[in-house]
Amino acid sequence: MSNKTKNNPDSLRLTPPERRRFRRRILSWYEREKRELPWRGEQDPYRVWVSEAMLQQTRAGTVRLRYTAFIERFPTLAALADAPLDAVLAEWQGLGYYGRARNLHRAARQVMNQEGSAMPKTRDALLALPGVGPYMAGAVASIAFGVRCAAIDGNVLRVMSRILNLSLPVDTPPAQKTIHEETQALVPRARPGDFNQALMDLGASICLPRNPDCAQCPVRVLCAGHLAGTQNALPVKTAKKPPEPCTLFQFRAERNGLVLLTQREKTGLFGGMWELPGFMVEGHKEKAAPRWLREQCALLLGPGWRPGRELARITRTLTHRKILFVVHLAEHFMNDAPQADRNGLLWASEEDFRSLAVSTAQRAAWSAAKSALHNMEGTQGER
Ligand code: ADE
Repeated sequence: MSNKTKNNPDSLRLTPPERRRFRRRILSWYEREKRELPWRGEQDPYRVWVSEAMLQQTRAGTVRLRYTAFIERFPTLAALADAPLDAVLAEWQGLGYYGRARNLHRAARQVMNQEGSAMPKTRDALLALPGVGPYMAGAVASIAFGVRCAAIDGNVLRVMSRILNLSLPVDTPPAQKTIHEETQALVPRARPGDFNQALMDLGASICLPRNPDCAQCPVRVLCAGHLAGTQNALPVKTAKKPPEPCTLFQFRAERNGLVLLTQREKTGLFGGMWELPGFMVEGHKEKAAPRWLREQCALLLGPGWRPGRELARITRTLTHRKILFVVHLAEHFMNDAPQADRNGLLWASEEDFRSLAVSTAQRAAWSAAKSALHNMEGTQGER
């Protein structure tokens, strides 16, 4: 490898003897060093699928805390398919990217409605399920069914860009084709699932985004990036668009110790999740025009409600958006019975709030507003 050059296309492939060595080294390292995770050794396709869906965009440390509870709640594909979506979203809390939970649920129903009600066993058949892309299909097929196919997630992309000393940006089709072809050629016929997970673990523990610990790497002698000393500059990426700023103005209306919540549309950002009623605008706004705030408050909560003081503002960054949450108190100023008993609205207790499907960002906004209220009450009591 050391005398290969980046300009030579052959330098982007390993030779068959190098591949054999690579497999031997990484698999024996995996035997010794693999992370102890609750889904390790699991071959039930449904459980592998759930773990991979969770792991796709969430760190293993967080998934470890949620996976076991999810499996206890929905132990089988049939149990998941039978459950209402709300219950699935609620159990997904803390993992973020709730589209994955919606897809998992939809896919479970699809499989249960098919003849035989069994998980598909091939990569291509798995790819036909909602939410299953090339990575998930490869991971489930190789781990649960022993299919010889690659499973390339972000970690593996980074590891392979270094192994191949790839100077092309990894988020471009030619780079992905090269990585896919070489990873596919590396996956052994025996233990393809272990091999894929070994690559993932290597990326998670040694071949880190910054300062990879090459001295501990079992395949450093086969790594063109390490041999060329370029590992810290890899992977090359094209510049990303920054997340779009937006502001979500929300109202905290309270009645008899209950707080008003609304459920978002089933699709789109935070689809199907519960939150304080509010409205989203483009950009980060310091303040909403008072008249507009009044109109929106009455529209969302009912004519007897008006906005009070601002309680909290917090910012959360998602993949495509940077959201500023601004929570105002809502005051009920009419003597007649409060409005806001319309469809899609719910007066929720603290306990309801805990068990409903609510995003982590919204929980933070709720808590910030609640402590601001406590502080206000405290200072009023002191006067
Ligand atoms: N990341 C995604 N899936 C994984 C797995 N099965 N093992 C380790 N890391 C992962």
